[in-house]
Amino acid sequence: MVDGVGCVYLVGAGPGDPELLTLKAARLLKSADVVVFDRLVSREILAEVPAGVARISVGKQPAHHPVPQDEINQLLVRLAQKNRQVVRLKGGDPFIFGRGSEEAMELARHGVPYEVVPGITAAQGCAASLKVPLTHRGKASGVRYLTGHCRQDLDLDFDWQGLADPDTTLVVYMGKANIAEIAGHLMENGLTSSMPVLVVCNGTTGRAQHMLTSLCCVARDVAGAGFDGPVLFIIGNVASLTQSMEISDVPQGIATSALA
Ligand SMILES: C[S@@+](CC[C@H](N)C(=O)[O-])C[C@H]1O[C@@H](n2cnc3c(N)ncnc32)[C@H](O)[C@@H]1O
Repeated sequence: MVDGVGCVYLVGAGPGDPELLTLKAARLLKSADVVVFDRLVSREILAEVPAGVARISVGKQPAHHPVPQDEINQLLVRLAQKNRQVVRLKGGDPFIFGRGSEEAMELARHGVPYEVVPGITAAQGCAASLKVPLTHRGKASGVRYLTGHCRQDLDLDFDWQGLADPDTTLVVYMGKANIAEIAGHLMENGLTSSMPVLVVCNGTTGRAQHMLTSLCCVARDVAGAGFDGPVLFIIGNVASLTQSMEISDVPQGIATSALA
């Protein structure tokens, strides 16, 4: 620790369910002087912040950033220099599509002590909540996390041939606006049009919705679903396991309803 300078904890809040907070995250929330949080942090998790702790919202929305990243960085540095214990609370894991590493670099540049507290990333939380494994012997030997949105809406210039691997699960974050293009690239590069896609919105929260569809239909189905909240796409053969897992969970003799 540096005398007279507080510490900034870059904390992952997980995908939404407060029970998925780590013990460390829950402890830090209770002992912080100030919590600086993003839009994706669920209201259930914010309810865990004690009444006396100051809260600062720096919420971002796709293509609409009310507090620019530079200002967030400066805010964290300023708060620490005023000797505050700061929790910088981010949805999921702070270092997975969370810009936590940019904040860490800025803190380091100013000599501000910081710690990184991992959180359950949306891919893991959403998959587990639907009993879907991201890897499974014979169905997926690996998993990749991909952003479906590039800075300043630049083209999605990825190695589509490498990504179109039927033996790997592909989890697409921030892909709602570009899912037609993403599905198109994957099919052009060899994934079958019937490849299962599990779409999860507000996963792990009381507002969670999900839909099992396929690569050829995902864009149309998502457009028709009117999802309101963060959306994640799990593309690959494991996605179809949501059906078999749910059915095997139900005691024999009880009818199962079709998946949403
Ligand atoms: C800026 S990224 C942040 C990811 C976060 N750092 C993580 O590790 O999960 C935001 C994207 O994460 C995904 N996401 C986060 N929470 C989610 C949830 N509860 N349900 C579905 N998708 C979620 C969505 O794809 C959303 O557009």
